[in-house]
Amino acid sequence: MSRYVRRFRMEIDLRGIDLPEPEMRPGYQCLPWHPDLLDRHAWVKYRSFCDEIDSHVFRCLGRVSGCRRLMAEIVGQEGFVPEATWLIAFQPADRLKPVDCGTIQGVGRPGGVGAIQNVGVVPEHRGLGLGRALMLKALRGFRDAGLHRVYLEVTASNRPAVHLYCSLGFRLTRTMYKPLEVDPAEVY
Ligand SMILES: CC(C)(COP(=O)(O)OP(=O)(O)OC[C@H]1O[C@@H](n2cnc3c(N)ncnc32)[C@H](O)[C@@H]1OP(=O)(O)O)[C@@H](O)C(=O)NCCC(=O)NCCS
Repeated sequence: MSRYVRRFRMEIDLRGIDLPEPEMRPGYQCLPWHPDLLDRHAWVKYRSFCDEIDSHVFRCLGRVSGCRRLMAEIVGQEGFVPEATWLIAFQPADRLKPVDCGTIQGVGRPGGVGAIQNVGVVPEHRGLGLGRALMLKALRGFRDAGLHRVYLEVTASNRPAVHLYCSLGFRLTRTMYKPLEVDPAEVY
């Protein structure tokens, strides 16, 4: 297996595009950012990424402690955009506590550009439109915060994610090669 992974930088211009408020399926709820939610975001991030290629690209994504550190680092940045940061929780009929199942975070970069951090949906809740809902909530949040361009980076082989971003209007602007942080031999 190669020790490098191909990554795409993708961008979208938010001016003049329609960003509808996503309709959630019954039982699912989008929670806006609040500092009390940090650990819940970190847990969903871990569950979403721990078995995916990106946990080899970024070692921190394969560990709960790493995801917690990453969350703390994201929300501690000067450019952190709370409006673009959302958690999705599902309330099953037969349980008292909700189940957390999706996360996304946003950061503003110099030049008035927004950067999507890690969008993730836990495996049991994929294919239900939650990834699209998180992206729409984040893009609307960036626009509310006064940002008009947004970019993200994605591993080229991540077909569900690339498909999702293309379908929202993101366009490829750069291809990069990033060394894997985890030696494939440690995993396979
Ligand atoms: C990428 C991810 C967030 C998508 O979440 P999701 O809730 O399953 O996505 P949705 O149900 O909203 O589907 C969004 C689009 O992706 C497409 N898609 C979903 N799963 C797919 C798959 N396995 N293969 C190809 N396309 C897929 C859907 O067709 C949908 O497009 P459509 O509305 O035109 O049909 C989710 O797969 C995930 O968390 N992956 C692991 C973490 C990750 O890699 N995050 C991205 C980092 S850049």
